[in-house]
Amino acid sequence: MHGPQPILPLELREVVLALGGRRLIDGISCRFAAGLKTVIIGPNGAGKSLFLRLCHGLIRPTAGEIVWHGAAGRDPASAQAMVFQRPVMLRRSAVANIEYALSLQGLGRRLRRERVAEVLARTGLSEIADRPARVLSGGEQQKLALARAWALRPQVLFLDEPTSSLDPGASHAIEEIVRTLHAEGTRIIMTTHDLGQARRLADEVVFLHHGRIVEHAPAPAFFDGPASPLAAAFLRGELLWRE
Ligand SMILES: Nc1ncnc2c1ncn2[C@@H]1O[C@H](COP(=O)(O)OP(=O)(O)OP(=O)(O)O)[C@@H](O)[C@H]1O
Ligand SMILES: [Mg+2]
Repeated sequence: MHGPQPILPLELREVVLALGGRRLIDGISCRFAAGLKTVIIGPNGAGKSLFLRLCHGLIRPTAGEIVWHGAAGRDPASAQAMVFQRPVMLRRSAVANIEYALSLQGLGRRLRRERVAEVLARTGLSEIADRPARVLSGGEQQKLALARAWALRPQVLFLDEPTSSLDPGASHAIEEIVRTLHAEGTRIIMTTHDLGQARRLADEVVFLHHGRIVEHAPAPAFFDGPASPLAAAFLRGELLWRE
């Protein structure tokens, strides 16, 4: 169902991203095996979005290595998908946006139709399928972005603040979809500023600050008593982004 061979585990080895003389990602090493939902948290500017983009292969590290151990030399790109904070939609209908993503994967027309109908139904978007994607509301576009990613049946799904501009009902719907995807075997690696959402969804937490991993821990342990004073201050709402 998720492609011929698993691409996980994902390993980052001493990954650095330097731009304009600043080390925005400052020597990150970590490993993501199959199975969990990981939530990355940290203040604005910590490097969360850059971290996801590096993992997804959209930017190359300045130093260090990003290794998909299961891929064994094959291109791991087609087995992963990413949902961005501000979804990028083509100037065509919602349904055509999903179909286009599937056609890039070389899926035949019949299979494409099936997949599209399935994800539209499961995300509750069937009624707006024929509207131009760019006139959809922010929440509808975010759902559509998730539907498009879902249709690709990725082994790994990266989500960057998928509910940042959504009302509570829409956020709840997105969380349910994330849970379903995970239950069907997709590895989830996401960011959020909503600590309630982090508690609800995370199996493990990565706490980032100034481009470094300060803590990488099972979610219950992290939320009950983070090991680092920085994370404790962040959870209390006392960590300012300039610190
Ligand atoms: N292309 C770029 N060139 C220079 N600096 C950049 C670039 N992209 C990001 N940055 C800087 O890198 C730092 C980390 O950015 P990033 O977007 O990863 O933060 P974030 O943790 O996702 O923050 P937020 O919570 O606000 O989304 C920020 O200080 C940002 O200004
Ligand atoms: Mg971000």
